[in-house]
Amino acid sequence: MKKAYVKSYGCQMNAYDAARMADVLGAEGYAPTDSVEEADVVVLNTCHIREKAAEKVYSELGRLRVLKGERKAQGLDTRIVVAGCVAQAEGAEIQARQPAVDVVVGPQSYHRLPDLLARSRERRVVDTEFPIDDKFDHLPRRRTVGASAFLTVQEGCDKFCAFCVVPYTRGAEVSRPVAAVLAEAERLAEGGVREVTLIGQNVNAYHGAGADGAPVGLAELVRAVARIPGIVRIRYTTSHPNDFDDALIQAHAEVPALMPYLHLPVQSGADRILAAMNRKHTGDQYRRLIERVRAVRPDIALSSDFIVGFPGETDADFAETLRLVREIGFESAYSFKYSPRPGTPAAERGDQVPEPVMAARLAELQALLDGQRYAYQRAAAGRVFDVLVEKPGRHPGQVAGKTPHLLAVQFDAAAHHIGTVVPVRITEAGTNSLFGQLISAAAAA
Ligand code: 5AD
Ligand code: SF4
Repeated sequence: MKKAYVKSYGCQMNAYDAARMADVLGAEGYAPTDSVEEADVVVLNTCHIREKAAEKVYSELGRLRVLKGERKAQGLDTRIVVAGCVAQAEGAEIQARQPAVDVVVGPQSYHRLPDLLARSRERRVVDTEFPIDDKFDHLPRRRTVGASAFLTVQEGCDKFCAFCVVPYTRGAEVSRPVAAVLAEAERLAEGGVREVTLIGQNVNAYHGAGADGAPVGLAELVRAVARIPGIVRIRYTTSHPNDFDDALIQAHAEVPALMPYLHLPVQSGADRILAAMNRKHTGDQYRRLIERVRAVRPDIALSSDFIVGFPGETDADFAETLRLVREIGFESAYSFKYSPRPGTPAAERGDQVPEPVMAARLAELQALLDGQRYAYQRAAAGRVFDVLVEKPGRHPGQVAGKTPHLLAVQFDAAAHHIGTVVPVRITEAGTNSLFGQLISAAAAA
């Protein structure tokens, strides 16, 4: 049997796309493999968001070229596919830099992979179109694995933050129709999925067509997904503060399946920098939004993204970011050094921040955020949470799952608990994981 190795970099949408590419290849008779050495098709699903992520692809491709040569010497063919956002951004340049690449395919065309692979036997192919036909209509039925799944509901972004390549690589915002999302969610539920994370580059701009053709917002979509039998948890990511409407806040108040966790990138705490980033909100507008969400869901766990060293960022600007972090308090966060990306307005600016300054700011910010994360973890000790059991734990006899606030928990329980929600008392807080004890149904009542 032919085998396919699919590796994904970057965000959750890429992870979703990678799984769907595995489905497409599966329908063509390729079994998934974790071992690149035995793969007949190797797909790298690439990320273009920061330079480091994009450059990683070329070192990986260098290794694959050697592997392809070794397999050829044994009479075996290896097709190398570059997919994802680097494929979209760089197209044929990838093959100019690394001739071993057979297929370059963008995020909107991967349903055509079988055809592209067939054509690649004649000559190298590139497909980075944004086709009119919707890839989702051409993808095979998805295989479900596990209790928790991502579901793409929206792609692309019209926000044009000055640092970001996404509006260029993923294009304009497009929402999938409500019926298509619900049909996919129903199939996931039938396959044993209990938690669905609705994903989009800017998911709360979701405006898919409803039954009567009129656009439906994210809050209403969440309510519809919550009605699907079997789905007990809903999450969504990633959000932009400006598209966060009252209806969504109301949904947090009223829909029990909507988990108390919010990833809401702010990027900076300094109004001057936020304006230069084209974020179109201030630090205080972000604070007020958080207050409103906390008013209806006091226990909501907050997460965010930060960029340090955006062009022109001063020490005083950076201090504003630290102040915002101290005031709000985050359960978790991602923070990055600014990375100039080709074609984005910020990359053209003359006032780039020197690397050592960025490194020092990143270390200071991460120390603060790490402290908040540990404090959050420690505060969980002694408390009881509903845990969705997702998989076997690190040690035999253990299982692993997540609290509503997305904290990872390990505890002793039989494997048949996987796919169920059970009450767990947290006994110990590690740095990256909590340890707990299953409370029996009788004790929990
Ligand atoms: N440099 C550094 N970080 C970036 N991000 C997006 N573009 C850049 C860039 N050019 C970060 C933002 C975004 C997250 C997905 O990646 O914080 O929210
Ligand atoms: Fe990029 Fe801004 Fe769109 Fe997020 S909202 S994808 S950071 S342009």
